[in-house]
Amino acid sequence: MGSSSTIEAKFKFNCDNSLQERKAFDETKAGVKGLVDQGILKIPTLFHHPPNNFSKATNSTNTKHTIPVIDFSNTRQEIISKVREASETWGFFQVVNHAIPLNVLEDMKDGGLRFFEQDTEVKKEMYTRVRTGPFIYNSNFDLYNSPALSWRDTFACHFAPNAPPKPEELPVVCRDILLDYGEHVVKLGMTLFELLSEALGFNPNHLKDMDCSKAIMLLSNYYPACPEPELTMGLTKHSDSSFITLLLQDHIGGLQILHQDNWIDVRPIPGAIVVNIGDVMQLVTNDRFKSVEHRVLSNTIGPRISVACFFRGQEKLYGPIKELLSEDNPPRYRETTFSDYLAHFYAKGLDGISAIEYFKL
Ligand code: OGA
Ligand code: NI
Repeated sequence: MGSSSTIEAKFKFNCDNSLQERKAFDETKAGVKGLVDQGILKIPTLFHHPPNNFSKATNSTNTKHTIPVIDFSNTRQEIISKVREASETWGFFQVVNHAIPLNVLEDMKDGGLRFFEQDTEVKKEMYTRVRTGPFIYNSNFDLYNSPALSWRDTFACHFAPNAPPKPEELPVVCRDILLDYGEHVVKLGMTLFELLSEALGFNPNHLKDMDCSKAIMLLSNYYPACPEPELTMGLTKHSDSSFITLLLQDHIGGLQILHQDNWIDVRPIPGAIVVNIGDVMQLVTNDRFKSVEHRVLSNTIGPRISVACFFRGQEKLYGPIKELLSEDNPPRYRETTFSDYLAHFYAKGLDGISAIEYFKL
């Protein structure tokens, strides 16, 4: 047996025998940050990723590749053609000169940090895996069904389909900025749906009329500094459970996308918003727009903060848009409701396989 397969076997053993450890970690209610606060120098084996998660290292000859940056101060036609090209080839782009003020972006990152860095006892009160209101904080949503844990804690804030959250339903340390940033990012999302509709040759309201933005979830990711970054991931490889995702990241970096079999860095640009196509947009466009796999490396430098906003659909059937189909381009996916798609995504956990595969015909 080669050394790599020995490691694989050991990994499987750890995974099958770790329920107690997973529970113990959950019951601390302090997340990954709690481990770091204890001053650990070795990370628990629960967080060890199998060697093949690291096998496709960034190819240094490919560093000339960077995802497109689209300047929203250009003409509408220029913007639409760049959005089309980026969505078809990269599935990712960065937007600069959008309408969200820089101070709102800075306040949102600070607000995220303030939440995770508040008094642990106060934060523990909010830790849960059962959603009862618009706000939910925990670590590793797939703690009990993922093969290897991610070095990340998160909170989510649901803006829709229910009424926007009331301030008193949100943590006091970040409620004002959550509501303020939420309003701005939803507006930018709507602009993007218009541009994407036009990029597909439709009228600007086409995607909005399909209810692609009925449910909106903001997710703040906190990636603590990691003492053994070569053994774990900040966030396991996945594609997004959304139509589109708008991401605000800080200056640290670590987000990478899988492009033509190479991991490409999504370089932090001050003031930019990263936009990516999610699984259900790939499904409705019958593979024209790409939901690209991505991951976040862990890092000895940290914490890193990011805030992702997922635009999702509702209780109706989504399938490849009829106008995009032809004899040469038959449907590649079966229809699904957004909640059936999400049920599959969450039940599967982050296991390195894209959730959209399950819906392929
Ligand atoms: C996500 C995601 C990237 C990041 O939350 O789905 O891919 O940089 N986040 O945190
Ligand atoms: Ni993602």
